[in-house]
Amino acid sequence: MAVSAPTLSPAFPIGSRINERGVLEIGGCDALELAREFGTPAYVVAEDDLRARARRMLDAYRACAADVDLLFASKAFPCTAVLRVFAEEGLGCDVASGGELALALAAGVDPGRIYVHGNAKSVAELRAAVDAGVHCIVVDNAGEIDRLEAIVTGTQRVMIRVTPDVRGETHAAISTGQADSKFGFSMEEAPAAIARLRASDRLELVGVHYHVGSQLLSTLPFERAAAAVAQLGDFPVVDVGGGLGVAYTDEEPPSFEDYARAKVEAVERHLGPGKRIVAEPGRALVANSTVTLYTVESVKRNVSLWVGVDGGMSDNLRPMLYGARYEAHVVDRFGGTTRCHVTGKHCESGDVIVRDALLDDPRVGDVIVTPATGAYGHALANNYNGVPRPPVVFAKDGDARVVVRRETYEDLLARDV
Ligand code: LLP
Repeated sequence: MAVSAPTLSPAFPIGSRINERGVLEIGGCDALELAREFGTPAYVVAEDDLRARARRMLDAYRACAADVDLLFASKAFPCTAVLRVFAEEGLGCDVASGGELALALAAGVDPGRIYVHGNAKSVAELRAAVDAGVHCIVVDNAGEIDRLEAIVTGTQRVMIRVTPDVRGETHAAISTGQADSKFGFSMEEAPAAIARLRASDRLELVGVHYHVGSQLLSTLPFERAAAAVAQLGDFPVVDVGGGLGVAYTDEEPPSFEDYARAKVEAVERHLGPGKRIVAEPGRALVANSTVTLYTVESVKRNVSLWVGVDGGMSDNLRPMLYGARYEAHVVDRFGGTTRCHVTGKHCESGDVIVRDALLDDPRVGDVIVTPATGAYGHALANNYNGVPRPPVVFAKDGDARVVVRRETYEDLLARDV
């Protein structure tokens, strides 16, 4: 008998369901067939989910701010096909390196919608950004002002990134707003930098930027951040960063609407009304659009039951870096009571994707799904143990297409000289 769709948690892409054969479907595609056709591990993206979340985030901001530039933080899913979808939906994009700039340009993102970040931008990266005609460079430190002054010949729009001394409640590795952060100007340093930028005839200071952290489940830090930044003066543009958390398992993040309203109202209250709002969500636009499919290669029991799959920390570093938790299921036998650790194939004990998963009698050959791997999954993928990185597959209306192919052993050798 078919299991009804509500058994799927919000961690899954919009439109996912368990089909009549009892198999998970993503973007109308049967997960077992996807695994057969494209192999595993594979990132499967529900394209309609990306579009739906982009539209909802745009609507959420437009409902509370008259002038909004919504960007996708490309670091969350640096893949031209994803960038193209967001560009089609009317989003700009932020890049944090020369490589992300190259990807955005290759995806056809209008340079006039690109904002450039980075706490250690090289001269070459700054030059590439200026030459490409990016909309705005977000200046992080005093040395960068010197570098830009030397590079820019006409005028370049800039914002100043400040560190408001507000700690987001999140993992220490992804909290950025505290005073002792490597990002941005301190509140003490910022006034001199602002004065310098205002005096420059090459750099046009249009706004202020702050980003307090990522995977935030509360909107309270935005209020404190806006209050702090207001001490620095008046700016026509306020870039409120990204940071909205998502549901990986049982997290309850604010809705897009509540999140956008909280950010915009904080700006209005402290920095004044009528500002152009720039927002740069990454994770919230892509995390839940994507699932990873794995195949079970080994099952063994000692103190615990260990279910070894064909990927791991090469395709999802987040459990190892941030203690992130994910769901796991056998794609054609959801539910189950067999407690086990879903582990990767890499040569270290920390390579556990999901600890204490409850699966239905997992066996070699089963296809396992972990939902919510769209953000910082492909982005953090690596070749540890010479494991080729997975493909990115878009699924939509029952059709699937590869947008990034699987890496090959030849790719692993491609840089040898
Ligand atoms: N803007 C700036 C300046 C950022 O540094 C970031 C993320 C974002 C926007 C987007 O933040 P989001 O909406 O995605 O929270 N690898 C980590 C996350 C690192 C976030 C870095 N900065 C993870 O997997 O959790």
